[in-house]
Amino acid sequence: MFVISIAALKRNTAILREVKEAAGCRLVLALKGFSCWKAFPYLRDDLDGCCASGLWEGLLARDYFQKHIVTYSPAYDEADVTALCEFTHHLDFNSLPQWFRFRSQVMSHPRFQSGALHCGLRVNPECSTGQVPIYDPCVAGSRLGITAEQLAGADLAGLSGLHFHTLCEQNSDDLETTLAAVDEKFGHLLRSPQFTYLNMGGGHWITQPFYNRERLIRLVRETKQKYLVDVWLEPGEAIAIHAGVLRATVMDVFESAGHRLAILSVSATAHMPDVMEMPYRPAVFLVEAQGTGGPKPDVSIPAVSVKDEIYHLAGDPKSATRGPLDSFIYRLGGPTCLAGDVAGDFSFPRELKVGDTLVFDDMAHYTMVKTTTFNGVKHPAIALQHEDGTLEVIREFGYEDFRDRLA
Ligand SMILES: Cc1ncc(COP(=O)(O)O)c(C=O)c1O
Repeated sequence: MFVISIAALKRNTAILREVKEAAGCRLVLALKGFSCWKAFPYLRDDLDGCCASGLWEGLLARDYFQKHIVTYSPAYDEADVTALCEFTHHLDFNSLPQWFRFRSQVMSHPRFQSGALHCGLRVNPECSTGQVPIYDPCVAGSRLGITAEQLAGADLAGLSGLHFHTLCEQNSDDLETTLAAVDEKFGHLLRSPQFTYLNMGGGHWITQPFYNRERLIRLVRETKQKYLVDVWLEPGEAIAIHAGVLRATVMDVFESAGHRLAILSVSATAHMPDVMEMPYRPAVFLVEAQGTGGPKPDVSIPAVSVKDEIYHLAGDPKSATRGPLDSFIYRLGGPTCLAGDVAGDFSFPRELKVGDTLVFDDMAHYTMVKTTTFNGVKHPAIALQHEDGTLEVIREFGYEDFRDRLA
């Protein structure tokens, strides 16, 4: 079961609200990172709206968030643009051919003519600051955003915004570096009165304790002053970080070639693919019921503290000194056919047994949005944990959900 902590979400959005108010910018939730819409009522007051990756996320924002919508997609088709013109507030394009293809359609729309709809271009400042190439939109040959060279001499009539997204889990020093590149390559546009907004994308790790928020506030203020533009931020992860866990049940335990193995009710590939794609190593906790006479908790889960349970953090086996069968190191695998459906090797304070509960931390963002029913594995239910500790199961999945998805 995915358990989302309302208290943790609200803790994040309260920080974001403080930052955006101090900076004087607008901040929207990137739905690609977190789109569990039944939690939207708890986020709506602190945020300005949603960032949509295309029509369907835009519709979700319109129907369930009901505030500002900024939309950017690497490509739209005609039906997308026709539908989006009815309700999105920003429509940002990824290439000049896309903009030229839809320019007259958009500009003749009454919402564009009344000023309710603005259009922008995603630019590529060609300034890589991240460490992981698949998360770097500035790599040579990137398909995301227009370079200064591609933009030179183009007819930009009708546009009023620029958008860049180049960061991923980064601090504001990298934003500062990026803004310098944006200024060098696109500053002349931003200084012209035609351009009225700059969207600085996502990837800002604002709610992490070590994030330098003062620097972000300063950078936003300077940008607004320098170009006389509205500034938008569209983080996803910062809103849902440390706000949700995935609870799993141990279904089987056995040994193979000197390794202890546990098969869980959840799958790495189907339910937490970033564990394999990133690769991202989640913290894992073994849950004990209170009063079982077990040892005191090593650590409690910061995001979700379910009453009457204690949690033991499973350590990283790299720090274990004994061999796999002398210690309680288990390879945690999913119930699919994929040999590599493994969340990792984790060391536990005791032997695992069938029926034990394990908790994978930090599974709200970029996890729930990516789940599948590969192999027909049961999709975890979704629950909200309210501020008084009560759990509300908001969605359960059955065979019909699996069947109906593909026909
Ligand atoms: C265009 C755009 N905006 C915003 C985001 C959200 O980024 P994050 O969740 O890292 O804050 C992404 C993530 O890929 C993105 O591609």
